[in-house]
Amino acid sequence: MPAYNEKVMDHFMNPRNVGEIKNADGVGEEGNPVCGDMMTFYIKVKDNKLDDVKFKTFGCGAAIAVSSMVSEMAKGMTLDEAMKLTPADVAGKLEGLPKNKLHCSNLGAQALHEAIKDYRNKQKAKAGGK
Ligand code: FES
Repeated sequence: MPAYNEKVMDHFMNPRNVGEIKNADGVGEEGNPVCGDMMTFYIKVKDNKLDDVKFKTFGCGAAIAVSSMVSEMAKGMTLDEAMKLTPADVAGKLEGLPKNKLHCSNLGAQALHEAIKDYRNKQKAKAGGK
C-alpha cells in the first residue's frame, strides 16, 4: 500500500465535485488500460470559463484524489488556462504522490482536456464548421 500524504487522503476520503452534470457542455473520458481505472469529466462553460466541473472516477485512491483536485483547480479557469493544466501541477497541489502512483495524475488532466475538446468540437459543429 503506497503511503498517501494527508492532502491526498483528504481528497480521497472527501472528494469534491463528485457526480455528473446533466446537459453538460462537454464530456471527457480517459482510462488507463493497464490498471483499468476510468475517469469521466463533465463541464459547464460560461463566458469562456469553466463554470462547473464534476467527475465520476472508478479508480484507485490517487485517481480519486487527483480528480477531486483537478475539479477544484479547474473551476473558474478560462478554457485556455485549463488546457494548460498539467499532471505535474495537480500532483504538486496534492503535495506529491507516491512514485508508482504518478501515472494516476495523468488521467485527471487528460480527462479534463478531453471534456474541453468535446465542448469546442460541439461549438464548431453548432457554428456549422467541421
Ligand atoms: Fe491506475 Fe491509479 S492505479 S489510475
